[in-house]
Amino acid sequence: TSESQPYRTGYHFQPPKNWMNDPNGPMIYKGIYHLFYQYNPKGAVWGNIVWAHSTSTDLINWTPHDAAIYPSQKSDINGCWSGSATILPGGKPAMLYTGIDPNNTQVQNLAVPKNLSDPHLIEWVKSPTNPLMAPTAMNQINVSSFRDPTTAWLGPDKKWRVIIGSKINHKGLAILYTSKNFVKWTQAKHPLHSAEGTGMWECPDFFPVATKGVYGVETSKLGSSIKHVLKVSLDDTKHEYYTIGTYNIFTDKYVPDKGQVDSDSGLRYDYGKFYASKTFFDILTQRRILWGWINESSSVEHDIKKGWSGVQAIPRNIWLDKSGKQLIQWPIVEIEKLRVNQVKLPSKFLKAGSVVEVKDIEASFKIPGFEKAEVLDPSWTDPQLLCSQKGVSVKGALGPFGFLVLSSKSLEEYTAVFFRIFKGHGKYVVLMCSDQSRSSLDADNDKTTYGAFVDVDPVHKSLSLRSLIDHSIVESFGGGGKACITARVYPTLAIDHEAHLYAFNYGTEKINLTNLSAWSLKKAQIS
Ligand code: FRU
Repeated sequence: TSESQPYRTGYHFQPPKNWMNDPNGPMIYKGIYHLFYQYNPKGAVWGNIVWAHSTSTDLINWTPHDAAIYPSQKSDINGCWSGSATILPGGKPAMLYTGIDPNNTQVQNLAVPKNLSDPHLIEWVKSPTNPLMAPTAMNQINVSSFRDPTTAWLGPDKKWRVIIGSKINHKGLAILYTSKNFVKWTQAKHPLHSAEGTGMWECPDFFPVATKGVYGVETSKLGSSIKHVLKVSLDDTKHEYYTIGTYNIFTDKYVPDKGQVDSDSGLRYDYGKFYASKTFFDILTQRRILWGWINESSSVEHDIKKGWSGVQAIPRNIWLDKSGKQLIQWPIVEIEKLRVNQVKLPSKFLKAGSVVEVKDIEASFKIPGFEKAEVLDPSWTDPQLLCSQKGVSVKGALGPFGFLVLSSKSLEEYTAVFFRIFKGHGKYVVLMCSDQSRSSLDADNDKTTYGAFVDVDPVHKSLSLRSLIDHSIVESFGGGGKACITARVYPTLAIDHEAHLYAFNYGTEKINLTNLSAWSLKKAQIS
């Protein structure tokens, strides 16, 4: 019941119980979406990892199935870790995944559907030649730093290519393998890419994006109107970053564009909690869709007590921004069919708790004057630090303004998602924050504040903010998807119908709320 389980989600994907981490092998097959994920069938902490499996026709409502891939061979007897789907010619899916062998060595394995006429692909069979890729004395790959194969791509030379996350000392590495038949793989002489000082690259993702428009492209697509994106998940910091760059199929090298930051301080899909993410190309709607895991901010004891841990973010449609310098992300439109009870409010004060429980809110703010904008000190380069120093209770000139979500009636508890605008060097700088410091009266949670700079022009455009609120999740999109921040919070008072929502402006200067729409969302069918 929601009384004993106030933090379970209404529309974010999660299993009925136990531990979940990375999304694995997302794909669409015969019009059905598949999501596999790292799962512990035996408890609420990480361990005994199998690929659990659910299917959907809309990416929102899900049907659970039996585990698809679980330890059964020597090459995966100690765990079936993360991996990706590749659609082979003829539309046949193939999964490459990391297996943990009897020596606890990380190796790469192949599994394929047993029965291609079953659109739900319930049963999977493993290649008898597994493992297909393994660390050897020759290739000098560290046995515990060799995992998480990407979706493979096919070159004009009819060779498949795949990258595996790795490291040498503290250098992050995308090891490249090639194959003619998807079974016999050869390590390339050079990695696809590497970067000093980042540590281990987990769950790499490498895919093309169109330079124009919002449509996604198939993973093997090459050409002059294509850029590539390389995303890595950093084991050391549990952050992800991505770069946009150029991939040369002849040299099999990826080079980030000038100005792209190839380190932990680079671009992130999400400046809050979001990890081990993976995209897939949805051939049905021509979108590239991003899945990402959001872990708990509560203690392990708390996870064990509630019997579960981990949720998936709302799938996000992603495409290249017009500037070519970053990606734009937006919750898939399918979520909008859960919307009920729209509340449109002309006033700047919204108090919805007793009437509708707002789950999806979108607002636009227009800034009438910038004269009083606070000057951005050149040393304020870390947005997260800036947000924690200038939390919601620190009044400024232009901001803080935004939403208080999951707030109790008398504001004993709330999560604040807001903007502040500063006068920078020749332009105005927009800071977006998610301040969890007052999110719960329970002291036993991680309440770290998150922050991001949003690359928008607040002078000529209004500034938009959308938050998806789901019991213990606040997933926010600033500037139309230019910056995303996801937080986990555990209110003790602001639960269900006691959860209120306010739009606020605590700055001294006027901000116009030009648009505000809020909805309740029906419960999705998930478990
Ligand atoms: C990322 C990760 C992967 C690994 C999997 C194991 O969260 O550590 O590198 O394959 O989880 O569950």
